[in-house]
Amino acid sequence: MDKYEQVIELAKRRGFLWNSFELYGGTAGFYDYGPLGCTLKRRIEQIWRDMFVIQEGFMEIETPTVGIESVFVASGHVAGFSDPLCECKVCGEAFRADHLVEKIVPVADALSNEELDRIIRENHVKCPECEGELGETYEFNLMFKTRIGPGAGRQGYMRPETAQGMFVDFLRLARFYREKLPFGATQIGKSYRNEISPRQGVIRLREFTQAEAEIFIDPNDKSHPNIGRFADTVLNLYSGAAQEKGEIERLTLGEALEKGIIAHEFLAYQIGLTNLFLQRVGVSPDMLRFRQHKKDEMAHYAMDCWDAEVSTDRFGWIEVVGIADRTDYDLCSHAAVSRTELSIYREYPKPRMVTRFCVKPDMGKLGPLFKGKAKAVAEALKALSREELEKEDIRINVDSEDIIVPGDAVEFAEETVRVSGENIVPHVVEPSFGIDRIFYTVLEHAFDVEAVPAKEDIGEESRIILRFRNEVSPVQVAVLPLLTREELIGPARKIEARLREKGLLVSYDDSGTIGRRYRRNDEIGTPYSVTVDYETLEDNTVTIRERDSMKQVRTPIEGIEDVLYDLMYRGRDFESAGTAF
Ligand code: ATP
Ligand code: GLY
Repeated sequence: MDKYEQVIELAKRRGFLWNSFELYGGTAGFYDYGPLGCTLKRRIEQIWRDMFVIQEGFMEIETPTVGIESVFVASGHVAGFSDPLCECKVCGEAFRADHLVEKIVPVADALSNEELDRIIRENHVKCPECEGELGETYEFNLMFKTRIGPGAGRQGYMRPETAQGMFVDFLRLARFYREKLPFGATQIGKSYRNEISPRQGVIRLREFTQAEAEIFIDPNDKSHPNIGRFADTVLNLYSGAAQEKGEIERLTLGEALEKGIIAHEFLAYQIGLTNLFLQRVGVSPDMLRFRQHKKDEMAHYAMDCWDAEVSTDRFGWIEVVGIADRTDYDLCSHAAVSRTELSIYREYPKPRMVTRFCVKPDMGKLGPLFKGKAKAVAEALKALSREELEKEDIRINVDSEDIIVPGDAVEFAEETVRVSGENIVPHVVEPSFGIDRIFYTVLEHAFDVEAVPAKEDIGEESRIILRFRNEVSPVQVAVLPLLTREELIGPARKIEARLREKGLLVSYDDSGTIGRRYRRNDEIGTPYSVTVDYETLEDNTVTIRERDSMKQVRTPIEGIEDVLYDLMYRGRDFESAGTAF
């Protein structure tokens, strides 16, 4: 078994992940989160909330997971959210054509369908399932279509990203934040993509959870007031240029900004924050890199984009977070499709005197020329640019009629006016986190197998441990009566209640030998176990066992909830939690 299989086997056996619809044979691209998986996922999401919603102040909103067609016409998803699909002519299995050739050419997802077909032909690539001949590549839109309402209804789509909900609510959000840039909104919720061949467990799902922030910033000022916080943070950066050389660079974010590798401070700050988040949930820093999108790979809306990629045993580097400067693309597109101005009024610190070019139609000439339409012609002229007005024959359209106005019927002037502000369309910086992929990498990086020392020998040569960070462990404390006897169960249940009251995640377990129960808790990543034994009945003390070191200390029941709370959340040293023995 490779590590992926070991992790997934454990995840299924212990209630982290189950194939959805298993009872009916299951279907690819869907996973259920079992009791421990769901808790672990929520705890990861909670840390994200703590960092983005509470600390950064980007408040959470909730918008529908079904969207109407106009939204996705504006976002570009109806026209362009597709992957190249290629089907086997023999068994009918579908594949992503770029995935079939990614070992042959780098950045295969930047190739056209014709190029993909050529590479498939020239390299004699066959169906990975049956070795059959592959058909021609065509574009497959990844959005799930649905109808809204009965009968013919209205065309709808399951959202492929949570982001659009935040763009559509832009005017409301701007008002909520009193039109002061920067401001941000966040969503944690489900997104849907009808992935062509999801064969990578929770890494490629058809229904998955995203945590996204859309941060609206001043297009003319992309500095960040707190960039100093991350200026000295050293990261594995894989810029476009570094990819050409095939070498990851170790640079501080400050250096990357100075060298112009990262486009601006706001983006760099989000990279710093993402790094902090991923380490806080348990991604190993040496297995994390930030890869810049090359020009030919960048999404249509982005001007600079970095992926946080995590190294995995089976799949190599996988993208878990995308951090992009989406510019004003989305707001401008929604403004055009909805015919609504999506901008904010920004008052200047001091009013400015602005010299403007203005047009002065000569009514003495326009009147006789255009009679009843002269006024409308004069208005239409005011809307033209200087370039258009300076032509010999000026072309305008009034009430669907094309009209040519002689240049000498129009005069220009420059006027200086006092202007107190302007309408601007903000740019958007977006960190987009895939919670399911992060969940998997947290599991894989926490997974460990080590030899069992003599003192805990229960006839097995090795123990499996999930070395979760305390903050994400789905069970924080296991309460274990040494034997299934009434006199031990009573105090154990009381301790369980005390710990629950303190807000700790507790499991009570009295089945099997104590050694097996320790092992079970190691496997689900429980950092501490409390054992109630016969000594407890004599002196009101219990044993606390630490998962990673397997060290044990004896400590009084009185105050045990505070001791465990401090171990969990306040970094208390285990040795100080009681008397070692
Ligand atoms: P990929 O190239 O791997 O398909 P992507 O570039 O399409 O990913 P984005 O569109 O940038 O991914 O989505 C943002 C985040 O959402 C990703 O970093 C990833 O963590 C997550 N994500 C995207 N698609 C899926 C999926 N099918 N299953 C699980 N998570 C996903
Ligand atoms: N919101 C970015 C993405 O899902 O692609």
